[in-house]
Amino acid sequence: MCGIVGYAGKKEAAPIILDGLAKLEYRGYDSAGMAVFDGNRLNIVKSAGRLKVLAELTHDGQTMPGFSGVGHTRWATHGQPTDENAHPHFNKDETIAVVHNGIIENYRQIKEKLQKKGYEFRSETDTEVLVQLIDYYYKGNPIEAITKVMHRVEGAYALGIIFAGHPGKVFAVRKDSPLIVGKNEEGGFIASDVPAILKYTRDVYFIDNQEVAELDGNNLKFYSVDEEELKKESVHIDWDAEAVAKGGYEHFMMKEMQEQPRAVRETYEKHLEGEEIKIDELKLSDEEIKALKRIHIVACGTAYHAGIAAKYIMEKMARITVEVDTASEFRYRDPLIDEGELVIVISQSGETADTLQALRLSQKKGAKVMGIVNVVGSSIAREADSVMYTWAGPEIAVASTKAYSAQLVALYLISMKFAKTRGTISGDEFKALLSDLKKLPEQIEMLLGNKERIQRFANRYIAAKSIFFIGRGLDYPLSLEGSLKLKEISYVHSEGYAAGELKHGPISLIEEGTLVMAALTQEDLYGKTVSNIREVKARGAFVLCVTNTGHQDIEADADYCLYIPVTNSYFTNSLAIIPLQLFAYYVAVGKGCDVDKPRNLAKSVTVE
Ligand code: AGP
Repeated sequence: MCGIVGYAGKKEAAPIILDGLAKLEYRGYDSAGMAVFDGNRLNIVKSAGRLKVLAELTHDGQTMPGFSGVGHTRWATHGQPTDENAHPHFNKDETIAVVHNGIIENYRQIKEKLQKKGYEFRSETDTEVLVQLIDYYYKGNPIEAITKVMHRVEGAYALGIIFAGHPGKVFAVRKDSPLIVGKNEEGGFIASDVPAILKYTRDVYFIDNQEVAELDGNNLKFYSVDEEELKKESVHIDWDAEAVAKGGYEHFMMKEMQEQPRAVRETYEKHLEGEEIKIDELKLSDEEIKALKRIHIVACGTAYHAGIAAKYIMEKMARITVEVDTASEFRYRDPLIDEGELVIVISQSGETADTLQALRLSQKKGAKVMGIVNVVGSSIAREADSVMYTWAGPEIAVASTKAYSAQLVALYLISMKFAKTRGTISGDEFKALLSDLKKLPEQIEMLLGNKERIQRFANRYIAAKSIFFIGRGLDYPLSLEGSLKLKEISYVHSEGYAAGELKHGPISLIEEGTLVMAALTQEDLYGKTVSNIREVKARGAFVLCVTNTGHQDIEADADYCLYIPVTNSYFTNSLAIIPLQLFAYYVAVGKGCDVDKPRNLAKSVTVE
């Protein structure tokens, strides 16, 4: 939610900021702005609309000369996406400018107090109180003013700040919203996320909660909230810059779908030693694994769907009770976590506010938390007691695809490890599972190769009003994920349902021609789902089914069939999701939607 970039150094700042913002546009894209110190004053340009509007207004930054500045791409929380509400926000005499990612919870109280002191506000944002408050406390020392503000405000923030009175410098501070700092010989950078500065440096500093950074062309300094100088170590990021480029694809989403075979392979390869699964990150001895009574999995959105799949798999395979919650519910329901229970949080970005709070709550309750995280060095990765990384590489498209595939694999590995250690599967069953796991990349590749057929089918549904996804067992979380993919990028209303639940209400929505996507990958439930297909067909539905190769008999009941290669029934989500992702993608492309940046959404949801 919102992207921040700042630069101070020997180069022109505006083009560097624009370039960085372009890499962060996935975080928010309803307005954008920059403030650059031009040698005399702060030059501030901001506008509603995509980043390209700002680029046009500033002739790609050329009309904003200067060597230090901050920029922002916004996902609106307080106030409409208008020019006035766009960042940077600035004080009355335009000597201080601030860009902000996060939410200031007590902004109303602060605003009222400042108004009583004569401060006037131009926007409806919570951010504007920050710059006015900095102005109020500023007596010539930026660190003093910034830390006073930190003591005063409540909520989440990552800020980039520039003072006309301190030429060539940029200041940054964070609490519960991501912010990194980087440096090369030509200057210092701040950004909400690594891709924005990867082109310039791979050595980054993660600013911890309530720390301040001060940077100019030569130096980087860090301070605590009590103004004490801190020493920090940089972390080397070994993503390659190509990984955050589209690489010839029209959309990041297509590129990322195509990367799924690699993401899956790399994720399991990191944990295989010969024919053994090693997950040191679990930090559990064999005895502790055997004694495990319950696991809690907490996540949001797509990561939550991977968590539901894990419940089906772990309970059956390893005979452990698994509770799965969406983080936004978990954190407010005072969950019971007993001693010796494990909490797993799953997050691609590692920054999702609700998931981060769920992690902190679990730790407060005495639990050890393991994160399954994609972004190295993210908040969840740093705060969890241990981290099992997914090896999907940077995921830019708002719709998660390859991170989901990698999360599933991480969860398969944990399930298999637990099952083997607890003796709930035999050595031969384990070997068979491992062999099927290693076949997944090639099978996914094959399914991706069949995209034209799905495109043709999707083209028939670009005008659809409503689409249903149904399935039983593991096909239920698959249906939820297929439905989420479709609705988030194509804006077609869709519902994911447990097939057996349909007749308890939603079947009333089925009418002549309604598309129902039925998944039948679980052999033991096949006949039951066929009955559900018949029920919707009897009410006029057009049924597309996704089932296992060899089940051509389904053609007697369904209108259109897609087959996935044979795999172990625990792993079918990894294959069946591919046609559903492709379907969502092609419906969105057919409708002319902005696939990578769907309306109202942002890649990492750092507000609750
Ligand atoms: C998925 O396509 C979504 N855009 C969204 O549901 C996402 O999975 C969710 O916000 C969780 O994000 P995280 O994995 O970064 O925590």
